[in-house]
Amino acid sequence: MFYELAASTWGEDERTAILDVLDSGRTTMGGRVAAFEEAFARYHGRQYGVMVNSGSSANLVAIAALCHKQARPLQRGDEVIVPAISWATTYHPLLQYGLKLRFVDIELDTLNMDCAQLERALTPRTRAIVGVSILGNPAPLDIMRRFADRHGLYFFEDNCESADAELGGRKAGGFGDMSSFSFFFSHHIATMEGGMVLTDDVELHHLLRSLRAHGWTRDLPADTPLYKRTGSDHFEAYRFILPGYNVRPLEITAAIGLVQLQKLPAMTAQRRENLAVFKAKFDGDPRFVIQRENGKSSAFAFTIILDPRRSVDRERVFAALRDADIGFRMITGGNFLRHDVIKYYDYDTVGEIRNADIAHDYGFFVGNHPHDLTPQITRLYEVLDRTCN
Ligand SMILES: Cc1ncc(COP(=O)(O)O)c(C=O)c1O
Repeated sequence: MFYELAASTWGEDERTAILDVLDSGRTTMGGRVAAFEEAFARYHGRQYGVMVNSGSSANLVAIAALCHKQARPLQRGDEVIVPAISWATTYHPLLQYGLKLRFVDIELDTLNMDCAQLERALTPRTRAIVGVSILGNPAPLDIMRRFADRHGLYFFEDNCESADAELGGRKAGGFGDMSSFSFFFSHHIATMEGGMVLTDDVELHHLLRSLRAHGWTRDLPADTPLYKRTGSDHFEAYRFILPGYNVRPLEITAAIGLVQLQKLPAMTAQRRENLAVFKAKFDGDPRFVIQRENGKSSAFAFTIILDPRRSVDRERVFAALRDADIGFRMITGGNFLRHDVIKYYDYDTVGEIRNADIAHDYGFFVGNHPHDLTPQITRLYEVLDRTCN
């Protein structure tokens, strides 16, 4: 394809890392996972990392951990403030743990939650806020952090789309009580499947480790606040304290993650160079709304929303993109409220959800990869320029 939606970022080093794991004889979660967790947490200036088998699993164990905290756990019926655009598995764990969602519209230009509406979103039952940085662009994480602190809320950051983004000199993923990451193919770091939760809280760290692996105690240190050892190794080896899962990662994925993490700064720099090329073409053109950076985007992709007031024929534009061999998709699944699965949810909305609808109906993204995309972006502009007159 001339302009791919997703592209591999692997080279010889990733192949070697995989073969080293196979030769080592230890393929299930072990030393490489621990090393990657440590390195990834350090890269973000955080205390603890817990790797899992996907970003969705990271969200699941993170919400489960908040529901199992000893003091002030999230409880069924509690309300959580969420943005109207995010990936489905940002929301599913909240539903699965009996929480009620309060959807807030997004800003059309940043595509992130409109924080001007946060006070309106607050009710006596509000207990948490979920911040999602869409496609590399940091959400107002600083504002969300302050809002959460002011009102005694948990702040969970779903950072699955925005590794290596920065806000006020701090990495995205560094603001929440916990933050999640995805290492799926095409993400900033790709380990085939994979995810991580970062936190600075020791209790959450231990809850995450237990919930990741059956709800057992085996991966916890002896001085954990979660339980008291009986002293018998026999009974401790199979001791279950939480209704957990098995969402453990593999040594292979962690070994790839270690290689990819070293390459991440250079890959982000190249993605940002492509972003500059994209902006030079599209910025200021009234026919298109492109993503306005809040802080420093790590430019997962480039988004374009066709100005709905110009009544451009969307299907004609999409057909022209296909003809030009340019891959595109809707922005992170669009307005989540418009998906069939919403019928299972307990939710309400904070005012009208207007901008998420516009992004749903008139928006799409194209890929950004860590190599020079000037020819691809040039062709994209030519196609849109021609079809959006
Ligand atoms: C915002 C967000 N959260 C969670 C996920 C889930 O990650 P994964 O595909 O690794 O399960 C994604 C996937 O891209 C995402 O975009």
